Amino acid sequence: MNFNSIIEKKKKNIELNESEINFLIEGFLNNKIKDYQMSAFLMAVYFNNMTKNELYFLTNAMIRSGKKYDLEGVEGPIADKHSTGGVGDKTSLIYAPLVASFGIKVAKISGRGLGKTGGTIDKLESCTGWTSLISEEEFNSNVKNKYISIIGQSENIVPADKVLYALRDVTGTVDSIPLIASSIMSKKLAVRNTSIILDVKVGSGAFMQNIDDALLLANTMIEIGNLYNRNVSVILTNMNFPLGRSIGNALEVKEAWETLNGNGCTSLEEISTTAAAITLLDNGIFNDYKIACEEINKVIKSKKAANLLKEFVINQNGDFDKIINYDDNFKTKNVIEIRSEKKGYLNYDSNSIGNLSLNLGAGRETKEDKIDFASGIYLNKLPNEFVNENEIIFTLYTNKDSVEIFKNMSHECYKITDNKNESDLILKIISKNYNL
Ligand code: URA
Repeated sequence: MNFNSIIEKKKKNIELNESEINFLIEGFLNNKIKDYQMSAFLMAVYFNNMTKNELYFLTNAMIRSGKKYDLEGVEGPIADKHSTGGVGDKTSLIYAPLVASFGIKVAKISGRGLGKTGGTIDKLESCTGWTSLISEEEFNSNVKNKYISIIGQSENIVPADKVLYALRDVTGTVDSIPLIASSIMSKKLAVRNTSIILDVKVGSGAFMQNIDDALLLANTMIEIGNLYNRNVSVILTNMNFPLGRSIGNALEVKEAWETLNGNGCTSLEEISTTAAAITLLDNGIFNDYKIACEEINKVIKSKKAANLLKEFVINQNGDFDKIINYDDNFKTKNVIEIRSEKKGYLNYDSNSIGNLSLNLGAGRETKEDKIDFASGIYLNKLPNEFVNENEIIFTLYTNKDSVEIFKNMSHECYKITDNKNESDLILKIISKNYNL
């Protein structure tokens, strides 16, 4: 077998077999297949797509490149959730304690933020001391005894995805549906779980800009999950506007805490409750969606889920009091109020908001950049809310001095219109157990 014969086949859209795909992935990891050769393969996939068999072989080869987490000794339902990435998306921090309140364990590999989208690991690190660097034994024990544990994508978890993603990033092949689907699913399947819920974001602040591409990605990931006999459900959610009121790391943990204490905004509560309810259905805790949502509301009211978030952070060494006493702990040099120039209904653009937040210091442009946990944006007014002239629309928090630049960038982030521009928050739910 050699690379030339494989690339010739892929170029002519002839299906590759398992040993050819293994040869590619193993060869690339062993440096026998070079970057320029793999780039050609990725571009051929970009244009010619992958068959169901090829997707299965590729995902399998990626999983086999690293370690599998079997969660030895952990019994009962184990859930995972993944978001394809959005602006202000702190849903995982709300979802995990919600499902854990019903005895479902959450074992999750999370990522860091890059570009305008945030990452769960960065958000949690705003609780000083919190660490994702725990041993497999600690991970198992946390999941077993504390019901929630989150680790980062270390060197040994799907290493093939790490190197392939880095190459895709510089060869214009990130936005290929089979490559995104196999990349996400290989990480979800490397951990033993009984259900996976995927939140595929659609809109200006997301990878998938339209519903057709999002549906294709969703169905491709479900297909991969089915090949592994995993229970995979998907929600397609709107990312034309940011989720919730806060964008930025510590701000988002605070908002998750407030939401679990019953003081969240409707959009964030709705997506978190929907994802959690589907997980409860997928694991047979309830068989009626409406009842699952009602029971979730009860654990919010009782503060049970809020306490589980706090315990989880403390258990992985984080200082949660920093979030509880937020105003004493997260101060920024500059607090900039952005006010409306006229009255009308507010429309946000999540892509511009994400970029502004990144520039304020809340994100990183390259992997080496350092995050400023206190910086970010607070939306005083929510999407589609009516604003009067000169009202505060949103507030910027930053330790950087480019105040005028940030004010100018703010104008790209919103429009004020005479009419509401309402669009659905949850665009579609694909789950065999969803029954509304
Ligand atoms: N997230 C991933 O993990 N992989 C992709 O390819 C895109 C988003």
